[in-house]
Amino acid sequence: MAGRVAGKVAFITGAARGQGRSHAVRLAEEGADIIAVDICRDYDTVSYPLATEADLDDTVKAVEALDRRIVAATADVRDMAALKSVVDDGVAELGRLDIVCANAGICTVQTWDEVTPAVWQDTLDTNLTGVWNTMVVSAPHLIAGGGGSIICTSSTAGIKGLPYLAPYVAAKHGVVGIARTMANELASHNIRVNTVHPTGVSTPMADGLGGLEGLIGRDPNLGPIYMNTLPIESLDAREISNAVLFLASDESRYVTGLEFTVDAGNTIRLRGDHPRGRQGQDRGQGRWARARADPGRGGRRPAVIRGYRDVAPAASGLFARWLRGSRHEQRMVRDRRGGAAARQEAAA
Ligand SMILES: NC(=O)c1ccc[n+]([C@@H]2O[C@H](COP(=O)([O-])OP(=O)(O)OC[C@H]3O[C@@H](n4cnc5c(N)ncnc54)[C@H](O)[C@@H]3O)[C@@H](O)[C@H]2O)c1
Repeated sequence: MAGRVAGKVAFITGAARGQGRSHAVRLAEEGADIIAVDICRDYDTVSYPLATEADLDDTVKAVEALDRRIVAATADVRDMAALKSVVDDGVAELGRLDIVCANAGICTVQTWDEVTPAVWQDTLDTNLTGVWNTMVVSAPHLIAGGGGSIICTSSTAGIKGLPYLAPYVAAKHGVVGIARTMANELASHNIRVNTVHPTGVSTPMADGLGGLEGLIGRDPNLGPIYMNTLPIESLDAREISNAVLFLASDESRYVTGLEFTVDAGNTIRLRGDHPRGRQGQDRGQGRWARARADPGRGGRRPAVIRGYRDVAPAASGLFARWLRGSRHEQRMVRDRRGGAAARQEAAA
């Protein structure tokens, strides 16, 4: 069969739904066979339901409909022995392993002082140790096959300090550390290790997560941290799968240790786009500083300077509704208009 990953076998965690299923389908479309695992069970600490066995069955059907083979099993990424048994069985059946997608994850929303020890532990165990376990049980098969590609799902939360997600942010930053280290350690085996960093993606996780809007409402200055730059609220899982496919294929044969953002520009908003954030930041290099010093040469002003009303549609999904029409937004627009009028007056 022809395809960008034809003849390869991919192991995907959290494959019963959402991005994991999308990765399974996209890789199968391009010729890969799949080993899929998912916990198919809920957590006490997570507010939304996780996948079910029926979801995992649907992933199996979707891959088989593409005429590819799939070995699927329920397993918890926190349980290294269970994970090893699934991968070993899958490789025995499908013959090899080339691609690993450490994708399974959970998310909880709360202020720092509402993070319980159980929430902290479950998030770190799943989103960080789960990625480690996935690598450890997979790497021997990749080495035996002469190389491969490991793709770890991080997040914009692996690059920025997103408020009210402390354990999630800690784990997603940690994933980058694991990936960088393993990219070095495994390079001599021709194994590449990269991370993908999505902004909000329309999946049951994002749709089921509540509470963020209310928390942002308490400190509206934090809202813009979540905003995208491109005018899109949240991405379709397939957008992330296309990045995963590239990293999985030989087209990226010399790409390793990369933090591959698929974030509609979310993480380039790290500096220079927020009144408080600007203070104490590098005034000499930021887009804001250039635009202020010389709007003509500085290129486009950061979108936010035009007022929140213009950029609200670009907020990542969870925040778009909050930003539109919020009192904070209206105040910011008013303040900016007032500032512009004062500057014109001073110049006249
Ligand atoms: N949806 C977003 O906005 C978003 C943004 C950035 C990053 N991510 C990350 O993308 C990845 C996929 O999430 P999604 O958006 O598809 O959400 P999702 O909840 O739809 O899918 C996650 C899958 O992981 C499974 N899972 C959870 N804990 C597990 C465990 N211990 N063992 C095995 N499987 C387990 C779930 O059952 C579920 O099927 C996660 O790592 C998530 O943190 C999501």
